[in-house]
Amino acid sequence: MAIKEEKKLYIETLGCAMNVRDSEHIIAELGDKENYVITSNLQEADLILVNTCSVREKPVSKLFSEIGKYNLQKKEGAKIGVCGCTASHLGKEIFRRAPYVNFVIGARNVSKISTAVNTEKFLSVDIDYDESDYAFGEYRNNLYKAYVNISIGCDKQCTYCIVPHTRGDEISIPSELIVKEAQKAAQKGAKEIFLLGQNVNNYGRRFSSSSHETMDFSDLLNRVSEIQEVERIRFTSPHPLHMDDKFLETFASNPKVCKSMHMPLQSGSTHILTQMKRGYTKEWFLNRALKLRAMIPDVSISTDIIVGFPGESEADFEETMDVIRQVKFEQIFAFKYSPRPLTKAAEFTNQVDVEIAAQRLERLQSLQDEILDEISERKRDKVYAVYIDELRNSGFLAGRTDNNALVQIKGDEELLGQTINIKITNPKRLSLYGERVL
Ligand code: 5AD
Ligand code: SF4
Repeated sequence: MAIKEEKKLYIETLGCAMNVRDSEHIIAELGDKENYVITSNLQEADLILVNTCSVREKPVSKLFSEIGKYNLQKKEGAKIGVCGCTASHLGKEIFRRAPYVNFVIGARNVSKISTAVNTEKFLSVDIDYDESDYAFGEYRNNLYKAYVNISIGCDKQCTYCIVPHTRGDEISIPSELIVKEAQKAAQKGAKEIFLLGQNVNNYGRRFSSSSHETMDFSDLLNRVSEIQEVERIRFTSPHPLHMDDKFLETFASNPKVCKSMHMPLQSGSTHILTQMKRGYTKEWFLNRALKLRAMIPDVSISTDIIVGFPGESEADFEETMDVIRQVKFEQIFAFKYSPRPLTKAAEFTNQVDVEIAAQRLERLQSLQDEILDEISERKRDKVYAVYIDELRNSGFLAGRTDNNALVQIKGDEELLGQTINIKITNPKRLSLYGERVL
């Protein structure tokens, strides 16, 4: 087969880690099959891709302003493609609003990227499409920590969330493919494997075919940890509802599983949790979080919270603040509720005033700042083993402690990929700064 002429790809990725990994898959496919190489210079690109997110309204409006701008700046003949979650939910509406777009492929149609670039006008946004055993090519933004997908889609019906409408039903990726991919990445230098799924601890409920070996998430963690070169395993996102004792015990006892847990609370009010269809109560969440703290004194717990969900009263919001005070999360991703198309909650008639939601978000953040000051100050003068995985533009080397605290030091590039001991000399809320000690 004749080698194709080299072309340049400019890609912008919005949204979550899943999207970051989808972009890596796209880059690998286009590199292997179409001879594309990455560029950061928009004007020299032959193909401009935006991998979109639709979880809140903001990234959706951003899409149209971005591609409008790209259309004016692009070189003559360059193509523009839109993929990801907004592609799934808007589909051909994107061609209507931006007729210069050449193709639209949904979050579950990534493997069709080669066909898309070779077709005049291509649309593929099927959310039933099953890519769970498609062997994508290899490309990684970061050689030291590797994202590995373990499932696609989501079976939950949280009433605020658009994701089941953009990524479809949940299907687990066969464990043999996951292990093979983790092995490949580890052999190329990734000592840290980051397992990704919308609901990781629901792993194993459904595979594309009955011939695949069934196992649950705890078994999968143990299986990946058997890969010799892998030193650290992280995962996101688990669901609090599926945090049974077996899962917590595997998490606590497997030494390669990093001791940081993301536990998306969403709300501390049982009433609101019911309206959100989260399937657990405030008490269940507290029981799991406090059990984790008791089992693993050094564990860090992060969370996602939505403020101003329809019907959220001052008392409901105080329940959320109460959980924050009790659990003392090491990290909170807090968002104002954003009504999404296709979701049940967007139809609820008791929407909360945006001003009230904004004030609640501010109160939540100032409580969290106080907690973070306390947590980071406690780390002063302590020594941590840090896996260095990034050289930042600022010139600092960055890495994470086992329990996911971000640590930065001045140092030499050759420390990348190494685990070193660092004494914290300057603890800040969002990052700890320190010095190497031997
Ligand atoms: N409005 C605000 N935040 C949302 N999230 C999901 N849907 C919405 C929405 N409609 C948040 C949740 C989720 C995180 C990825 O985004 O907290 O855990
Ligand atoms: Fe990720 Fe959700 Fe955004 Fe899709 S909508 S990119 S799944 S955060």
